[in-house]
Amino acid sequence: MNILVTGGAGYIGSHVGKKLAEAGYNVIVLDNLSKGHREAVKKGKLLVGDLADTGLLDRILEEEEIQGVIHLAADSLVGESMEKPGKYYRNNVANGLNLLEAMVKNGVKYIVFSSTAAVYGEPEEVPITESHPTHPENTYGESKLFFEKIMKRYDQIHGLKYVSLRYFNAAGADLSGQIGEAHDPETHLIPIVLEKALGIRDKLYIFGTDYPTKDGTCIRDYIHVEDLAAAHILAIEGLAAGLESRIYNLGNGEGYSVKEVIEVAEEVTGKKIEADIRERRAGDPAVLVASSEKIKKELGWQPLYPDLKTIIESAWRWHQGGGFGGND
Ligand code: UFG
Repeated sequence: MNILVTGGAGYIGSHVGKKLAEAGYNVIVLDNLSKGHREAVKKGKLLVGDLADTGLLDRILEEEEIQGVIHLAADSLVGESMEKPGKYYRNNVANGLNLLEAMVKNGVKYIVFSSTAAVYGEPEEVPITESHPTHPENTYGESKLFFEKIMKRYDQIHGLKYVSLRYFNAAGADLSGQIGEAHDPETHLIPIVLEKALGIRDKLYIFGTDYPTKDGTCIRDYIHVEDLAAAHILAIEGLAAGLESRIYNLGNGEGYSVKEVIEVAEEVTGKKIEADIRERRAGDPAVLVASSEKIKKELGWQPLYPDLKTIIESAWRWHQGGGFGGND
């Protein structure tokens, strides 16, 4: 089966592409390399291009005989999305729409979409199930929610079937150590903590110690990127086997505070990791923990690496190796 992976040179996309290829799929990656890395595409064919290019999308779907799409290409920084909303609506919604139009035109019926816990906003209850109300507090989350609504309409009108995967906090690195998380700038907690441990970052800040949590710091549900990648394969297989369109949360159902993450990182690295305290970061909910019972029950998804220590160990191996030639 020929699968197009948009954003397949990015952090999560590169792990998805690798796992798909290992499962026997023919992988075609489309990435504009604005944030992705050429070296991250370990398997399959990399086509460098942008979703804004409708002619290119048509050509790829036709010439590569694409049967299904996994769509991860997006802008994904919450902070930036509140400074440049237009960039997020254009790239995540309008350019994504180009992809759906090209799929309809070329008779491609299945799409797995990379969505986010940010669609929920501040949760009313945890663990968060898929039926929890959606009140995104930032443009990033809203852009992803818009796209989910568009896919629903395309299913109704064009019969396009989708699985939307709402990721909680993706973390860790491929266990082979070949690919991992390399954002520029880096904003995510675990890589920042590990860069501090490596001495390549001066300061680590804890954003807020006055949250209503056990130790005052935010609680998140960290999910190993390999477990996340595996869910995409189950989703595309499900769609190909006739699964109706649906939405799934993806997390481990267990929350860890920022302080706990730092403690586990100290254990893994064997180093003392100093942190300074700062005021809260705008738009951070106190607690985000997923219920992933639905995907477990319906698709048989089971996380293989739910343990935070294993997640951080895999990231540590990757960071110690210098990332893609030096943590760019
Ligand atoms: N944090 C710090 N210091 C840092 C970085 C982060 O204290 O230097 C804290 C944050 O305040 C937050 C927690 O660590 O409480 C996790 O922060 P991340 O930036 O690693 O992850 P987020 O939970 O903010 O973001 C993740 C995804 C987003 C997605 C969001 C959904 O990366 O794409 O979950 O809420 F939108």
